[in-house]
Amino acid sequence: MKVFFREAEIDDLEILEFIERQCFRDPWNADMLSSELSMSHSVYLVLTDGENIFGYLSYLHILDELHIMNVAVLPDYQGNGYGRLMVKRIIDDAQAKEAVAITLEVRESNYRAQKLYEGFGFALAGTRPHYYMDKENALIYWLELGGDIQ
Ligand SMILES: CC(C)(COP(=O)(O)OP(=O)(O)OC[C@H]1O[C@@H](n2cnc3c(N)ncnc32)[C@H](O)[C@@H]1OP(=O)(O)O)[C@@H](O)C(=O)NCCC(=O)NCCS
Repeated sequence: MKVFFREAEIDDLEILEFIERQCFRDPWNADMLSSELSMSHSVYLVLTDGENIFGYLSYLHILDELHIMNVAVLPDYQGNGYGRLMVKRIIDDAQAKEAVAITLEVRESNYRAQKLYEGFGFALAGTRPHYYMDKENALIYWLELGGDIQ
């Protein structure tokens, strides 16, 4: 199946909200997503085959860094390489924008996402205690660009 990224639009809010509810313990609602979509430094891309949407990614571009906000694949489509495609896309975008580093926070219990990022060379750089609403710690990852990227 041929899949590609396209910019998320206001008409995608319903599916974005659905993906949030399916993928996260503290999902964003349509209002939060809508205000993020309108911000000039935030990028929201959906992964689609032109008909169905399988997931979405979002990041902030601040100065010379990208901050990954979300990488989410609907449960029925997980395990097919889409998560890797999304991280690869973010790294490609970062290089095109001449960013020097990419960072993100991930739940301490989210081994699957940690493995995904580590596979691209992201390195654990610290923790943010009680970062999430349910008080779970966040792990902070960084990828410095310019080195070897897999
Ligand atoms: C994390 C997530 C994006 C991965 O998406 P995916 O499409 O399933 O991932 P892929 O099929 O591309 O697999 C990428 C890597 O994830 C890891 N992975 C995938 N399935 C896994 C599983 N069942 N168990 C453990 N690790 C797994 C592997 O490291 C895999 O790399 P590999 O195949 O080279 O070994 C997806 O599970 C998801 O949306 N989770 C909920 C939202 C979330 O936690 N997002 C991250 C927030 S920071």
